[in-house]
Amino acid sequence: MINLSFRLKAVYDQVSAARTELGPGRVIDVGSDHGLLAVSCLENGIATSVICTEIHEGPADHSADAMITSGFEDRSQVIVTDGLDGVRLEKGDVIVIAGMGGLNIIDIVSRCIETETPELLKNVRFVIQPQKSVNLVRKFFAENGFVFDDESVCTDRDFFYNIMRMSYGAVPYELGAYKECYGSVLLKKAESGDELIRSYFDHLDEVFSIRSRSDRVIRDALEERLRYENQ
Ligand SMILES: C[S@@+](CC[C@H](N)C(=O)[O-])C[C@H]1O[C@@H](n2cnc3c(N)ncnc32)[C@H](O)[C@@H]1O
Repeated sequence: MINLSFRLKAVYDQVSAARTELGPGRVIDVGSDHGLLAVSCLENGIATSVICTEIHEGPADHSADAMITSGFEDRSQVIVTDGLDGVRLEKGDVIVIAGMGGLNIIDIVSRCIETETPELLKNVRFVIQPQKSVNLVRKFFAENGFVFDDESVCTDRDFFYNIMRMSYGAVPYELGAYKECYGSVLLKKAESGDELIRSYFDHLDEVFSIRSRSDRVIRDALEERLRYENQ
């Protein structure tokens, strides 16, 4: 059995929730690196099969080796490509993009939205774990008509990570600075007393108070948060 880091376990939990919602089917791991997540999904019966994509040959080889070693060669495909380019999505797929910068994730999903039909997009789920630019990722998904089914936060070696689970609703909307920066799902969780999210927000408040000097969106978000806190 593969031992996942706290971060990857939190990603796995969201993939598992998406698979439970959709029923049996494939998991597509974009940027699979060592293939740990994909192997775990197969080992635990979360996925019927997996597709791993990798932009670099080296990590793709690691993923392919992991599939052979764990005996899943016949239920896996490893493709060297940029994001989802060349991957034909199917109804019921769960697509996971974890451990990458937010702008890279936006680039990958933008191209996917351009090539897939709204009908197909409505029948897949995305699990997204950005390393940075989390607010830009939330803004992008909202403006492109995605609904936030859930968002979780985990800590791993003193860092906070956000994991978003999303479905396509086809109706674009604006989140506004506050929800872009703090997350609509997380705001609700904090309101209902979730201690982890509350300590994550304390951390964000500190980071944002520095960044607000040069970033207007973050300044607006922080001002709204202070207004809310002082009510
Ligand atoms: C930091 S690793 C994260 C691996 C794994 N997803 C995780 O969460 O632990 C990022 C991986 O994504 C790959 N990658 C980066 N950009 C990519 C892209 N546009 N398409 C496919 N793979 C990409 C890198 O080669 C690297 O192996």
